[in-house]
Amino acid sequence: MTSSTTPRTVTEETITDVAVERWATAHDPRTAELLTSLVRHLHAFARETALTEAEWMAAIQWLTRTGQISNDKREEFILTSDVLGLSMLVVQQNNRLREGATPATVLGPFFIDDSPELGFGGDMSDGVEGTPLYVHGVVRSLDGTPIAGAPMDVWQADAEGAYESQLDVDEARLRAKYRSRDDGSYCLRTIAPKGYAIPMDGPVGELIHQTDISWMRPAHVHFWLAVPGYEPLITHLFQEGAEYLGTDVVYGVKEELIVRFVERDPGPTPDGGSSDVPWLEAEYDFVLQVAS
Ligand code: BEZ
Ligand code: FE
Repeated sequence: MTSSTTPRTVTEETITDVAVERWATAHDPRTAELLTSLVRHLHAFARETALTEAEWMAAIQWLTRTGQISNDKREEFILTSDVLGLSMLVVQQNNRLREGATPATVLGPFFIDDSPELGFGGDMSDGVEGTPLYVHGVVRSLDGTPIAGAPMDVWQADAEGAYESQLDVDEARLRAKYRSRDDGSYCLRTIAPKGYAIPMDGPVGELIHQTDISWMRPAHVHFWLAVPGYEPLITHLFQEGAEYLGTDVVYGVKEELIVRFVERDPGPTPDGGSSDVPWLEAEYDFVLQVAS
């Protein structure tokens, strides 16, 4: 180690190596790898763009505002990662599933844990206005074996694009936990989701407004299946033909996750009940890969 009293002039040319050398002393090897790489890339960014002091200060102030607007219900840093495409890149490189397995997509900032458990065909929209939507199918393994008792968290926005955590409510709203039956079948009732805008009233919105980027997400329902012995699956189902499928602001769309919402007349529904009003049916099998 260089003595702390030996003068050392750090120049524009040497500062990256000096900083990398310092951060390489992180006690945990992975932390050292991450931080030295971060230093290299940040310095390369500043060099490549000839970053000015005013731009550096604007970025610091933007980060400060991003922290200030964040709380336990608003995750502006996650949103930043989402709109920069970083979240989806991390999802893809950590979920390289075999062909045929249901692909993963972004978690998003609106998941709430401990949702109430509902039975087969249970209505998670309970009183929220919208067209009834039944989603049903089978949870199975890549080799076709049905998976019994698979826990499935489901959540979505209402017809105004609002998630529970964005509203002042004290009961679970448009979210529930379901379980597949012994034959792997599952069925849930909700309302048809709509496309919605990501939160645009904060620092992320400030940036997006300076571009031609669409801030909309296509209509979707979120799913999280955590089955022991299988790779966990965090994903969405998107409505076929929905607006914004080609421009999703968080890059979350995958063709395998697009499902037809078939219009049905009043009558029998997939849970064995019946509907007095027209309803929509989406059939989808979740295919899980055995954990490696
Ligand atoms: C969502 O689908 O809930 C979502 C994902 C990323 C950013 C904003 C919202
Ligand atoms: Fe969403």
